[in-house]
Amino acid sequence: MKHFLSMKDVSEYEIQQLVKRTEDMMLGRKEMVHPTTPVFVANLFFEPSTRTKMSFTIAEQRLGLKPLDFQPEVSSVQKGETVYDTAKTLEAIGASLLVIRHPEDHVVQQVASKMSIPVINAGDGTGEHPTQSLLDLVTIYQEFRRFHGLKVAIVGDVKHSRVARSNAYALSTLGAKVYFSSKPEWQDQTLDFPYLDIDEVVETCDVVMLLRIQHERHDQRQSFEQTEYLLNYGLTVEREKRMKPHAIILHPAPVNRGVEIDDCLVECERSRIFKQMTNGVYARMAVMSNLLEDWGIHNEYQASERE
Ligand code: CP
Repeated sequence: MKHFLSMKDVSEYEIQQLVKRTEDMMLGRKEMVHPTTPVFVANLFFEPSTRTKMSFTIAEQRLGLKPLDFQPEVSSVQKGETVYDTAKTLEAIGASLLVIRHPEDHVVQQVASKMSIPVINAGDGTGEHPTQSLLDLVTIYQEFRRFHGLKVAIVGDVKHSRVARSNAYALSTLGAKVYFSSKPEWQDQTLDFPYLDIDEVVETCDVVMLLRIQHERHDQRQSFEQTEYLLNYGLTVEREKRMKPHAIILHPAPVNRGVEIDDCLVECERSRIFKQMTNGVYARMAVMSNLLEDWGIHNEYQASERE
């Protein structure tokens, strides 16, 4: 892989290899030999993040890489420096890999096209969030050991969700049946997947993936009654009871408890929400070690004694 920007660019074989590498990392079956000379990774987050930024930082340290923290509010972004010039600067001073999150669609891809080092998209506007998708795929695979034929519903604010987009592309590449379920004004007709009512979703799907309502991406804050939203479009306790016995609940988080999902379901038996976060560290280790290997920056990835 040259960069990791979109799940549209990744083949079925490449996704399967990344899922396998993530499990290898998780189970200690494979590990990257820590570099003997420093390999710096710049985490350029131009939009808030808890999970993605922190799990990249931990993943980098676990791989023996050196994370460079970047805070736009105390950087030369405040003097008008562009994302591109910021990225070029980090490249010039010695970063070997860039992890970029930005509120505008396609900015990360545009920057990557002009870089001589690998770039990972950590979320671009409503565009894509490929490492979130990989950790979601790993969580699904842990449960079912397959993707082909699984029914996966992506439920909520589809129109503004980069998680929905990346997962719909990746899951359909892997042969899963993807459905959306959404309030009519948050449907995205540019994505060619069928929409189901939430009551049909809970009774028929193996995976119910809820999405956060992306208030920050709405034209203006839409006032809506939260309880009414939960009752009409969300996962209530009553609906959870009608899910198939083996079905699981996912949510990329942060969760609006009591809005997309009933508060008490966030940590219920079916929920894999915190498991997703744990898996995110290993998925990001897999992506970074793969890129460093493919670019010849650091390719000492070997079977550990535990294999
Ligand atoms: N799921 C996710 O991207 O969370 P953060 O915005 O906290 O990184």
